Amino acid sequence: METFLNANLLNWDDRAELHATDKTGSYRIDSVLAGGSNLYELESSEVGDIVGKDIVHLQCHIGLDTISLRNLGAGSVTGLDFSPRAIVAARDFAAKAGSDVRFVESPVFEAVEALDRTYDIVYVTWGSVNWLDDVFRWARVVADLLRPGGRLYLAEGHPLMFQCNRKGKALELKHDWRTPAGRPLAWKEDLTYTGDERVLEHPRYYEWIHPISDVVNALIAAGLSLDFLNEHDKVSWQHFSFAVRAGKDMYGLPEDAPKIPMAYSIGATKRGVGTYRIVPKKVDSH
Ligand SMILES: C[S@@+](CC[C@H](N)C(=O)[O-])C[C@H]1O[C@@H](n2cnc3c(N)ncnc32)[C@H](O)[C@@H]1O
Repeated sequence: METFLNANLLNWDDRAELHATDKTGSYRIDSVLAGGSNLYELESSEVGDIVGKDIVHLQCHIGLDTISLRNLGAGSVTGLDFSPRAIVAARDFAAKAGSDVRFVESPVFEAVEALDRTYDIVYVTWGSVNWLDDVFRWARVVADLLRPGGRLYLAEGHPLMFQCNRKGKALELKHDWRTPAGRPLAWKEDLTYTGDERVLEHPRYYEWIHPISDVVNALIAAGLSLDFLNEHDKVSWQHFSFAVRAGKDMYGLPEDAPKIPMAYSIGATKRGVGTYRIVPKKVDSH
């Protein structure tokens, strides 16, 4: 598993360098440095009250959403990412923005030891759990980072979308609904997703598709209760080349294509001591 993690680290280090010097406008750097917010309408409308809250942003990349959360009134914000170059860029942006957000370099699975404290909100969005081979382990990290009564906000690409490829004016199913930990989807792409023409030195990377039921059951097993689970017919990046603008800042499928859910979002709260819950029998659905 180490090799997949290392390959992803090299790939993300390359991307971090390109994204931190982004000229395509994808990362809306200037607006964040000027005190604005990079959050999309979807997560802004769902994340709930963040004012005065202590937030940890997992897989924060170059820190622009992290700084945005502080700009929006969070009490304190910490960003965590395993890419050294992403963390250097994030700290540089924070200094330029005059922001007191903290950035910590660590793999997600070592976040509890690296951060050594708890939070009101764990914030995870857009392209995070697909980089992890074990969502049950991830959910335990999330739970351990939360105070009792603290909550997770997660917004992610939908597993059904990740299963599909474009075929003409429609979609075809290309990948299994669940990726085994030891056999990730293997990719090789020379360019990053922003439209930047600079080539990645380490083009190989590995991803996992996790069924929503795994994510939900992982959170429940880790001691969280669901506040909401939403599915959306749009996502924050142009996942398919024929996707069209949907609303102000998202992409959906064209009018004449059958629609699928493109994203999902979860709000979940860490249960207090002694809270009752039903433990379901494990159903093997392979
Ligand atoms: C698509 S970006 C997430 C975008 C992010 N939500 C933001 O605010 O811009 C994915 C990030 O996950 C990080 N990442 C991938 N695997 C990781 C791991 N095992 N531990 C920590 N960070 C990881 C990458 O370095 C990258 O910055």
